[in-house]
Amino acid sequence: MVTGVEIKGHVVHLEGVLSPRRFSHSLRVARTAVRMARRYGVSPSRAWMAGLYHDYCREWPPEELIALARHQGRDLSSREEKNPLLLHGWAAAQVLEDAGRICDPEVLRAVTYHVEGASSLEPLGQIIFAADYLEPGRPFHFRDETNLYLSKTLDGLYEWVDQSLRAYYKENGAIEKLTDFESASSLQE
Ligand SMILES: [Fe+2]
Ligand SMILES: [Fe+2]
Repeated sequence: MVTGVEIKGHVVHLEGVLSPRRFSHSLRVARTAVRMARRYGVSPSRAWMAGLYHDYCREWPPEELIALARHQGRDLSSREEKNPLLLHGWAAAQVLEDAGRICDPEVLRAVTYHVEGASSLEPLGQIIFAADYLEPGRPFHFRDETNLYLSKTLDGLYEWVDQSLRAYYKENGAIEKLTDFESASSLQE
């Protein structure tokens, strides 16, 4: 459970870390995730924390993401070497845990896997993955369908978001999901 005072502390901290546009995106993801959590029987406070902090390291330069991975002894895939931004969810979980900001392993896993999803994601992770793309500031074709989750199971929604994104990348000739998605999105600074 996150208290009102803690909420304020987290929001103020994050505002000092991220650019205004990404900070706003993070707030929208947190709010969207809370709505989804209530719908799907997941802890709203965990959803809020994971949504708020999911892009904590999204604005790090690629060299810093690589340096953190090397420092932590993490092996990089060839895709990650080519596109270090893929590491930003993993990096956020590391940094947030080290700083004692988030200790809940489920929240940390949701932050870690929000970038590309994973085949065995827990419900909270599925919610954060979906909320990242369904939040109302996104420019995609499904932006107007944010209430769609009311008619789907969480597994169904996760699949639907994943497939919609893949179709979008294919249509737009994307090679690396993250880079192309974000360069096409309203988050581009
Ligand atoms: Fe992200
Ligand atoms: Fe995001």
